[in-house]
This record gives sequence, structure tokens and C-alpha cells, in this order.
Amino acid sequence: MQGSQNVARIVGVIGASGSGKSRWLKDGLRRMKPARLLVWDPQDEYGEFGQVVTDMRELVETLAGLTPADGFRIVYQPGDDMSTYKWKFDLFCEIAYQIERLCVVVEEVADVTTAGWAPPYWSRLSRKGRHRAMTMFAVTQRPAVIDKTFLGNCTLIHCCRLNDKNDIAVMAATLGVPVDDVRNLKADPDTGVFQFIERNMQTGQTGCGALDSRGSHRPVPERNVRTLPEPEATT
Ligand SMILES: Nc1ncnc2c1ncn2[C@@H]1O[C@H](COP(=O)(O)OP(=O)(O)O)[C@@H](O)[C@H]1O
Ligand SMILES: [Mg+2]
Repeated sequence: MQGSQNVARIVGVIGASGSGKSRWLKDGLRRMKPARLLVWDPQDEYGEFGQVVTDMRELVETLAGLTPADGFRIVYQPGDDMSTYKWKFDLFCEIAYQIERLCVVVEEVADVTTAGWAPPYWSRLSRKGRHRAMTMFAVTQRPAVIDKTFLGNCTLIHCCRLNDKNDIAVMAATLGVPVDDVRNLKADPDTGVFQFIERNMQTGQTGCGALDSRGSHRPVPERNVRTLPEPEATT
């Protein structure tokens, strides 16, 4: 979770429900303390990270009133009615795209994109956010159902336990690790062990680790993940 303010990062956080995705991400936010934070929080669980806003008009007005120098932390909660998510999420992404040096967190991406379709401003964010020195965290339970371009645009993938066979295969291929390494990831609330595999998508460096019982990111890999040979560089 180290980062430079000048380097855009798109972090894909993938894993089954209860696999430790949000715990890892929240722990990272506590340490990063981003100066400008905007969260899409459909499960109303990020209140500790900023001012909670539930009204889209209020979100638009609050952000429109900021100067480029202002810091802010806003947690937007779109509510329970998922039929409203489409327009709310598109507007959320359009607003986020306008803001320089933003850390944007999107929980449960599979609720708002499909394998074949992504909201236009979401695509723009994940393709061009790097020009705005953006850090983006996008969380999903189902890699097989989020839009395909997204994983390809990630600079880091953080993969927790998955249960679905298809999802395991998709993530093993994306991470470039043996399928069994993904299949064997543990998520055990009783022992507090939540394992993950991470891949830096720019360097191909791959490693694994686990949250400790307090939810902290243990940086030392527990074991080495076999990394497949890199393809010939094409650039
Ligand atoms: N603040 C907390 N304290 C203790 N346990 C928690 C806390 N938040 C979540 N958990 C537990 O940690 C596990 C992982 O939760 P979470 O990271 O929210 O999963 P998800 O992958 O669905 O985002 C779950 O078993 C959950 O019940
Ligand atoms: Mg979660």
C-alpha cells in the first residue's frame, strides 16, 4: 500500500464475501490517510473515514464548492434501492473524474458493472484516472462478472479467498499463479487468518500474505508464490 502522490494506482480487491477485502482496504486507508477521499459505500460501513453523504445533490454541491487546494473525506452511501445505482454510480464517477489527486474507493463493483458493460464514466476513470494522479480501489466479490477492461487496467491486484470455480480460474490466470494457490487461500474468521495473493501488474512481482488477528496487513510474505515467466516486453 505504499504510494507516491504522482503515480496513479488502480487497485483491484477481489474475494468472496467475508474474505477480508474491506478489512484490508480499511486498514490501508487508516495508514494512507488520503488528503482527498471519496468512497462509494453501498453497505454503509465506511462512516469512520469521512463525512457521510446520502443525497446525490448534496454530494454534487459539496464537491463543487471545493477549491483545488481543499482536502476532504466524503463517504457517499447510495442506499438500499439498487434500481437507483445505475444513475447514481455514473454521476459519482463523473464527479470523481473531475477531481485531481483523489483517492476513490468503490465497494461492490459487480453491483454496478457487468462483464460486457461498464458505465461510461467508470470506464473513463479506470482508463484515464492516471492522468489525474488518482488512486482507485475497486472491490468485487465476482471477478468473472465485472467488466473485462477493469482488471487489465489495474496496477495492483489484491486477491483474497474465492469460492466459485470460475472466479478462481479467472484470478489464477490474471495473477499468473497456479490455480491451487488461489483455491487454497484461507479466510477463517475464527482464527482471524485472511490470506491473499497480490500481483503488481506493472512489474509482475507476485507475493502473498495474510491479515493478522487485528486486521493489519502483514507485509512479509508467508511463502513464495511461483511466478510464471513474463512475456516478452512489447513496448
Ligand atoms: N471491525 C471488525 N472487527 C472484527 N471482525 C471484523 C470486523 N470487520 C469485519 N470483520 C470480520 O472479518 C471478516 C472479513 O470481513 P470483511 O473484510 O468485511 O469481508 P469482505 O471480504 O466481505 O469485505 C468477516 O468474517 C467479518 O465478520
Ligand atoms: Mg466488504
